[in-house]
Amino acid sequence: MSRLYLGIESSCDETAAAIVTHDGEILANVVSSQVPLHARYGGVIPELASRNHLMAIGPVVREALKEAGVALRDVDRIGATQGPGLIGALLVGLQFAKSLAWSAGIEFVPVHHVEAHITAVLLQDGGEHPHGPLGFPYVALAVSGGHTSLYLVKAPGEYRLAGVTLDDAAGEAFDKVARVLGLPYPGGEHIDRLATQGNRDAFPFPRPMLERRTGEFSFSGLKTAVKMHVENAKRDGIPVHIPDVAASFQEAVVDVLVTKTFATARRFRVSHVVFSGGVAANSRLRMNAVAAGPEHGVAVHLTRPFLCTDNAAMIANVARFKQPVSRQELMSIEPFASGWVGPKADG
Ligand code: KG4
Ligand code: ZN
Repeated sequence: MSRLYLGIESSCDETAAAIVTHDGEILANVVSSQVPLHARYGGVIPELASRNHLMAIGPVVREALKEAGVALRDVDRIGATQGPGLIGALLVGLQFAKSLAWSAGIEFVPVHHVEAHITAVLLQDGGEHPHGPLGFPYVALAVSGGHTSLYLVKAPGEYRLAGVTLDDAAGEAFDKVARVLGLPYPGGEHIDRLATQGNRDAFPFPRPMLERRTGEFSFSGLKTAVKMHVENAKRDGIPVHIPDVAASFQEAVVDVLVTKTFATARRFRVSHVVFSGGVAANSRLRMNAVAAGPEHGVAVHLTRPFLCTDNAAMIANVARFKQPVSRQELMSIEPFASGWVGPKADG
């Protein structure tokens, strides 16, 4: 039987466990979402998240093993998210995973959450490849509620950071704009849906950092511009056409994300780009990225939507190609709240 990898993820508001084979086949991918719990507050409440991870983690891991039809003794290696994320939330999954590994004598790999996002496409059937198969090196955009960063991926485990957001993550902007528009949390998918009924050119919202050659992003000003637009309209008694605002805002974000990803590919002379993270599930982003590929001479690869949002299959995937820690090191592994994977690119 092929080697088996158990992945455990608890960095934010999803408790997840997955079983992946040595060849990257996903045998089980269980995600227990806390969204309904946090929705009434309009965002994730860290203390609530930790408490719920604690209740969910045991059943979720058991369910993943059951779904894959394997026992814990069949697992060869455990990977768990070490960071970045909410410390209390991370602590639950990480300690649970460490204890399992220690007591059952299973190899253990601490996993960087963003590394998992940018390599999820390497899982079997983990991506859509409209321009042909994926090759190394590739430029990966990791865009979610907590991160917006660009990486040069030379090989599994070998990365250079090419740029990050200087303020909000793109997903954060989606969620905050959704809130201004009175849409439920998390707002990304609601904006995505409403935007299909709106006019993308209705309002010329700013495209921050679009012209800058480096990979830096900024979404805070765009978010404020949308908020002011809505507040001014309300003050002046002008009806706000929500689909138009959603479509125009989404177009500005997608424009920046797609343009900067291709610019980074050009900068590193790379002919493959990968889109990953929760916001990469956005339908307009996916469509525009695929359409723009050929004119840049770049093959576009889209992480499958169920692997874009937080999951543990992407965590188990990293455990496939990373060296496990020694038994002595295992117990001293602690979660971290922030930090990048790989050195920062200079040129
Ligand atoms: O990767 P993820 O599940 O968690 C983090 O690591 O942050 O990403 C969640 C983010 C949320 O901000 C959510 O609004 C956004 O991804 N998102 C979307 C879509 N689906 C999820 N944003 C835009 N369009 C979508 N279809
Ligand atoms: Zn994530």
